Amino acid sequence: MRLDKYLADAGMGTRTEVKKIISKGRVEVNGVKATDPGMKVENGVDSIKADEKELSLSVFEYYMLNKPKGIISASRKNSLKRGEKVPFGEEKYAVDLIRESVKTDLFPAGRLDKDTEGLLLITNDGQLSHRLLSPGKHVDKTYYTELSGCLSKADKQRLEEGTDIGDEKPTKPCTINILSDRSCLITLTEGRYHQIKRMFATCGLKVTYLKRITFGPLALDNSLEPGEYRPLNYEELAKLLSEYES
Ligand code: URA
Repeated sequence: MRLDKYLADAGMGTRTEVKKIISKGRVEVNGVKATDPGMKVENGVDSIKADEKELSLSVFEYYMLNKPKGIISASRKNSLKRGEKVPFGEEKYAVDLIRESVKTDLFPAGRLDKDTEGLLLITNDGQLSHRLLSPGKHVDKTYYTELSGCLSKADKQRLEEGTDIGDEKPTKPCTINILSDRSCLITLTEGRYHQIKRMFATCGLKVTYLKRITFGPLALDNSLEPGEYRPLNYEELAKLLSEYES
């Protein structure tokens, strides 16, 4: 592909902007300063550097976001233009928080309620997302949960075995680890609408705080504050793809 297209796809700017970057001598191809925006380069074969930083084009991107309260985890209704960003403080959708990407096709793999915090995978890999979310896959998801009261032993057992929350079928078996009088970890293998809130509501309890801390093989990076994100690292991605790619 042409060098200017490559640089634009790598997020360096519009074609006009990257031409200027090239003319300023900021781009090197295989160790030689590039001058021709139309020169042919090949992703993964040629070494392409801008401002001495190696660039690469990947079709798919994968981010771990610590979703804060108040942010919607649905896909955007009106997609942004390439490189367009929502002003700081005006983010409404989870994808608005992924500032380093120029992709316009990112979406959250799965949903968290608006008032739930925690681990949300943001990607543009539709196949992987489909596999992670398909009901037959049983991806484990663990939530740290704070409750309005104490969960009785009998209720814990009933929830763990699967219970009627008003849907066609009872919930699937789950695991609950009590942490204190009013907090626990709950691991589900399914993801129904408001599932945890509805499950505890059957015990007369309100969920006062909910945070997802694992999603399949991914564990929320403790260094991410609510609203922060990072690309998945090599090990995380390898695990995710090997477990859920086919
Ligand atoms: N269960 C809920 O009730 N809410 C979530 O966001 C996730 C699971």
